[in-house]
Amino acid sequence: MSEPTDQFNRPLRDLRISVTDRCNFRCPYCMPKEVFGAGYAFLRDPQLMKFDELTRIVRAFQTLGVEKVRLTGGEPLVRADVPDLIKALKQELGVRDVALTTNGWLLEKLAPALKDAGLDRLNVSLDSLDETTAGRMNGLGFSPARVLRGIDAAAELGLPVKVNMVVQRGVNDAEIPALCEYFRARGHPLRFIEFMDVGNTNHWSRDQVVPAKEIVDRIHARWPLEPVGPAYRGEVAARYRYRDGHGEVGFIGSVTEPFCKDCHRARLSADGKLYTCLFSSLGWDVLGCLRAGADDAELGQFLARIWRGRADRYSDERADLLTKGEVRAKIEMSYIGG
Ligand code: GTP
Ligand code: 5AD
Ligand code: SF4
Ligand code: SF4
Repeated sequence: MSEPTDQFNRPLRDLRISVTDRCNFRCPYCMPKEVFGAGYAFLRDPQLMKFDELTRIVRAFQTLGVEKVRLTGGEPLVRADVPDLIKALKQELGVRDVALTTNGWLLEKLAPALKDAGLDRLNVSLDSLDETTAGRMNGLGFSPARVLRGIDAAAELGLPVKVNMVVQRGVNDAEIPALCEYFRARGHPLRFIEFMDVGNTNHWSRDQVVPAKEIVDRIHARWPLEPVGPAYRGEVAARYRYRDGHGEVGFIGSVTEPFCKDCHRARLSADGKLYTCLFSSLGWDVLGCLRAGADDAELGQFLARIWRGRADRYSDERADLLTKGEVRAKIEMSYIGG
């Protein structure tokens, strides 16, 4: 099949698969515990893609141009069969780049299985090194020490690790130098993510966003930086290297410097719905199409039609929408992954 492009001529290259909507953390910017508590309706087993369904769907995406698959959640490592899935993606389907985004809580234990399965690399979320602030930001008072041990375990096995820090003004922005110092010394790229208005429950306010440019300036004043070009077209992080040779940092400025122009990412939820933007309200029922009896060619055609019709550019439009006071229902970040 010829590879489809969307309404803005963007190809489809990355597939981000949420393998579960559950998480062992309750970060208030993502899954506030008042909302995601005991009564919350998480997905149940029959709704979830089974292993063979998932591999068929990924194969269909490959015919459309997907070369990179990222496993997300919720927290992907709460699912015991993640290493098997990675093995299938690498060995059966030959996906060039298989990555995983995790909060790192279960990483120390699972790093060997992930490495053996053929995982190419890991992005670990960590918002603070301070016990109190980290505990507040993961919503459950968990210590960052265990996440750091997970990162060490993965790095010792030779898995490349990047660290993602969501920055919220007045909450953890004072921690920026401490994280720089820690990860400079260990050679892991650290990326700063602007706090985003994802989902409907995180009480986002513009005042809590620390603009990427401000973070660059703050770091540059202490450790001079210079820009590095993107590693690939459409990379979300603007990359910089420390002039003293101690590795690099990245800035994901989805609020102040949106990157929709080159967005080649599709997102698949654990119940097999395709979302063409992180801020979509509705998904396309790919699993339903498969369970209704579509063969591989029909599945590919279904996906290609959706991609050709895609016109999402939420982050580019955000400022306008907010000025107009237009409120949209959005999917939750924990349901679709970052
Ligand atoms: P690599 O560059 O392949 O390492 O991956 P990545 O940076 O795309 O993946 P990661 O999961 O680490 O993404 C980091 C964060 O960037 C996510 O958690 C989101 O907060 C944000 N992000 C990633 N993709 C998008 C996107 O398409 N749109 C927006 N608005 N934010 C995104
Ligand atoms: N703003 C920015 N990033 C977020 N994430 C979750 N919620 C938000 C938010 N409100 C991202 C973080 C985390 C990943 C799992 O999801 O990058 O590392
Ligand atoms: Fe869980 Fe990640 Fe969301 Fe935190 S940001 S609640 S670790 S899915
Ligand atoms: Fe892509 Fe939507 Fe993010 Fe823009 S806001 S970069 S279209 S996922």
